[in-house]
Amino acid sequence: MKGRNMRVGILGSGLMGAKLGTIFARAGHEVVFSYARSEEKLKRLARDARGNAHAGTPREAAQNADAVLLAVHWSRIDDVLNQTGDLSGKVVVTCSLPMNADNTELVLSNTLSGAEELARMVPKARVVSAFNTVPSEVLFGVYEANRRTGRPSLVYCGDDSGSKEIATRLIRDTGFDPVDAGPLRIARYTEPFALLVGQLAYEGKGGPELAYRFEYFASA
Ligand SMILES: NC(=O)c1ccc[n+]([C@@H]2O[C@H](COP(=O)([O-])OP(=O)(O)OC[C@H]3O[C@@H](n4cnc5c(N)ncnc54)[C@H](OP(=O)(O)O)[C@@H]3O)[C@@H](O)[C@H]2O)c1
Repeated sequence: MKGRNMRVGILGSGLMGAKLGTIFARAGHEVVFSYARSEEKLKRLARDARGNAHAGTPREAAQNADAVLLAVHWSRIDDVLNQTGDLSGKVVVTCSLPMNADNTELVLSNTLSGAEELARMVPKARVVSAFNTVPSEVLFGVYEANRRTGRPSLVYCGDDSGSKEIATRLIRDTGFDPVDAGPLRIARYTEPFALLVGQLAYEGKGGPELAYRFEYFASA
């Protein structure tokens, strides 16, 4: 897998999916944008990505994909999984957090993470939790800065080395320094951390940039 451009399906083309998909396409991967309320939006994203990108259905996004990015609100997970169909053997990188409707609280207990719950829903898929600790607003800036050293850290976790290697490549291609936090159950700790970062970014005085600096600081 090393060095080869991958095919990445985007399940949820909102703030996170649209930006990460665009960055993956610009980094040389083939990207299929799926799951938005209008097909026109998906086609526009594919055009604007200025790379090898297309619009498609969730099923098409997952077909022959080396990885799919799950980037929908927690309340949409069942629907997007139904539309996607069989994910057996697929690497599912999830940035989706198990949040309530107004995004103020995690809806699962502290003995279970959204990533683990997702792994229960798609038991034959290979779930990796990544990208949920970073506000979407800073993604283009990190990608464009393309630092050789002093890259901001981005933690990820998952249970098998092959899927983590794929996630690692995507994280590097996005401009971050991947930090392996361990097995998928560690998402019980990274998801509350992600919520804290979001609260700092959007409710504190520093804005999203603060969370970016926080990540940068973490890599020192
Ligand atoms: N935003 C962040 O900075 C951030 C950071 C870390 C983690 N996260 C997590 O990442 C996940 C995605 O967040 P986000 O901010 O990217 O969400 P978002 O902007 O709301 O994107 C969700 C996508 O789902 C689509 N969608 C919603 N309802 C739909 C329906 N009925 N039919 C078809 N498509 C539908 C939306 O379509 P439209 O495009 O048409 O609206 C959008 O493309 C969430 O779980 C969030 O907790 C977000």
